[in-house]
Amino acid sequence: MLGQDVCHSAPEWATVVALTRADGDLTRPEEAQAALHGPRPHIIIHCAAYTDVDGATRHPERAQAGNVTATANVCRAASELGARLLYVSTDYVFDGTADAPYTESATPSPLNAYGQSKLAGEQEVAATEGHLIVRTQWLYGPGRRNFVEAILEAARSGSALRVVENERGCPTYTPDLALGIWRLLETDAMGVVHLTNQGACSRLELAQTALQEAGLEDVKLTGIASEEWDSPTRRPLNAVLGSERLEEIGLDPLRNWRSAVSEYVAVLRRRWASE
Ligand SMILES: NC(=O)c1ccc[n+]([C@@H]2O[C@H](COP(=O)([O-])OP(=O)(O)OC[C@H]3O[C@@H](n4cnc5c(N)ncnc54)[C@H](OP(=O)(O)O)[C@@H]3O)[C@@H](O)[C@H]2O)c1
Repeated sequence: MLGQDVCHSAPEWATVVALTRADGDLTRPEEAQAALHGPRPHIIIHCAAYTDVDGATRHPERAQAGNVTATANVCRAASELGARLLYVSTDYVFDGTADAPYTESATPSPLNAYGQSKLAGEQEVAATEGHLIVRTQWLYGPGRRNFVEAILEAARSGSALRVVENERGCPTYTPDLALGIWRLLETDAMGVVHLTNQGACSRLELAQTALQEAGLEDVKLTGIASEEWDSPTRRPLNAVLGSERLEEIGLDPLRNWRSAVSEYVAVLRRRWASE
């Protein structure tokens, strides 16, 4: 999902070589080596990950391979090539018990196997010279099915909806994040940077906003507690990300999440109209 928008929003100075699993399985050192050495990149934007959160809870070894072994292989290639490495990470490295936003200096304490594997991926990256770790959260965008699209599809089919009301985060639109990533790469920033659309909400509020934008506000929508959701995974309740570094780096924050949701729903409405 994010990788496609990173490719679409590349600035003129960048010649992008987009890699997918078809170019090599990053968990296999020789395949990662061949895929990454071929184009001889100056920058590697590492968007690939094992992102199935419940899958990681059920099969932690898959998350370990996809997020730690694969990242170690990417780090090795970056070091050999002298390439600048940007790794995308997640709010799930935090436990979500704080009552204020987590900034870059907060101490990670993941609650689940996905968060543990992404944090271990960060630790691999941290040993690579000139690295950047961009933590973000609650991604949605045109690249693949996501929370916002799933809610709207269910509403359009007339289903009543149950949405978690006690998890809070900053919904982040992948085209906005991709632009932010490129802007960050235009600075000499290093280390951890939190990058999300501005403003936080609950999943229920995100669903309500998307439904309103889509003109589907009459659909029955019930708020439930995170524990009522049928999932084997404990999720952080309040892992809202904040940044103390963006200003210091000289980057503007991404726009407010409501404006981004409005733009995305307009994209979906055009797609529905052409179906
Ligand atoms: N989605 C979110 O809400 C969210 C929130 C915070 C952070 N993030 C982070 O943001 C980044 C992008 O997330 P996303 O949602 O855009 O991910 P995504 O849509 O799940 O895409 C991940 C991509 O990585 C590829 N991939 C996975 N394992 C691979 C391997 N071993 N070798 C080669 N390719 C592999 C996948 O290919 P296949 O499809 O073939 O498996 C897929 O194309 C990830 O680092 C994720 O952890 C995501």
